[in-house]
Amino acid sequence: MVVPFRIKMVEPVKILSCQEREQRIKEAHFNIFNVRSQDIYIDLLTDSGTGAMSQNQWAGIMLGDEAYANCRNFQNLESVVRKVFGFKHFLPCHQGRAAENVLFSSIIKPGMLVPNNMHFDTTRANIMANGGKAVNLPCKDASKPFEDRPFKGNMDVKKLEEFLSVNSDNVPLVMLTVTNNSGGGQPVSMENIRKVSEICKDFKKPFFIDACRYAENSYFIKTREKGYSDKSPLEIAQEMFSYADGCTFSGKKDAIVNIGGILAMNNHDWFEKCKARLILMEGFPTYGGLAGRDLEALARGILEGLDENYLQSRIAQTQYLASGLKKAGIPVVWPAGGHAVYVEAKTFLPHIPQAEFPGQALTIELYREGGIRAVEIGSVMFAEKDEQGKMHFPELELTRLAIPRRVYTNAHMDDVIEVHKCIAERKDSVHGYRIVKGEGPLRHFTAWFEPVE
Ligand code: F0G
Repeated sequence: MVVPFRIKMVEPVKILSCQEREQRIKEAHFNIFNVRSQDIYIDLLTDSGTGAMSQNQWAGIMLGDEAYANCRNFQNLESVVRKVFGFKHFLPCHQGRAAENVLFSSIIKPGMLVPNNMHFDTTRANIMANGGKAVNLPCKDASKPFEDRPFKGNMDVKKLEEFLSVNSDNVPLVMLTVTNNSGGGQPVSMENIRKVSEICKDFKKPFFIDACRYAENSYFIKTREKGYSDKSPLEIAQEMFSYADGCTFSGKKDAIVNIGGILAMNNHDWFEKCKARLILMEGFPTYGGLAGRDLEALARGILEGLDENYLQSRIAQTQYLASGLKKAGIPVVWPAGGHAVYVEAKTFLPHIPQAEFPGQALTIELYREGGIRAVEIGSVMFAEKDEQGKMHFPELELTRLAIPRRVYTNAHMDDVIEVHKCIAERKDSVHGYRIVKGEGPLRHFTAWFEPVE
């Protein structure tokens, strides 16, 4: 394996004492989002905006053209977007959820339904905020966390057909999230993308890709799907987007920038509507909430994120962490995702009922034990009451260890594995939590918790 970079600038980190960590997590009301960054040893909260930019990207930052309209960096970004994504129109946005908001507030009317393999939290929340309903149609393998299948991120195409046969009039577009972040960072196959596209054409529905991790998805297609081993990640990405009518994209993931995103599409009428919304919410259509320098870093990062050697080392690091945890007996979603390793917390901590948030309990324990910050992707994020007041829990109760790009070494990953082993030894003493403050689809960001003793 080749690691195609070396480190020439470092940021110091330290680990607080056990007593200090105990105090910090209490002060944070047991919500890891509230802990200060300097009090974290290894920060695996997210892979979003946390990557290390290259010298080429930093050099691009110095070439920022801060003209209000039509700056040079926009033109550079435009040519990269045209090459990689290929859609007729695009708008820069400050991040993925801004692209979602611009899109959904332009096209969704109350009561509309948006199917997806699995919506991420902000996608679902933006649909809901505009009066729509987000519908998940994952393939059956998605709910089998420990079975080794190559494309567990796929959409259930049969269910999509059935869904559109009944609800077509009420569906403004179909989405597909690559890779499937809420479902373990699992990839979607080209075959599935093609099939979803065909169904959308049959029902005359626009097909949009949530492209946050399209480069990692392309790499999985290259290494796991028949017929793609000789293609470059760029060629695979181009084919993937050729089946779609548009995409939302957070550059904070696979374009390795700290801020930035795009919204792209073929439909001219939708583009005009979105452009008007963008001007209102984000800024002029050639900068969309970003500085010229950010546009340049994004343009350069999109190309770097598709480099095959980089993608190989990236996916290998995720696999390194997943294999180490698996070897230590920790129930990790298998195979490893692209950007993150997911621990199935209700299997790891079976004595904690879902109503007491085992994923959250493990997140807290990781900080207590080793100053590690992970994030819950389980019932805090996704449990919801139906109209009759009955609580529905997600099938998987996950704690996600998201790996920032080009930031940590495998020695850090070894520490993460050690910390899990220590928790496993005393796991019967780990207890559940209840929410004392916080509601709504984004409550996980701000909720306060207390232990259920
Ligand atoms: N879609 C997916 C699949 C995502 O994972 C995210 C963000 C977004 C959309 C929104 O993008 O953050 O730029 O506004 N995911 C981050 C995460 C926050 O931690 O997984 P954004």
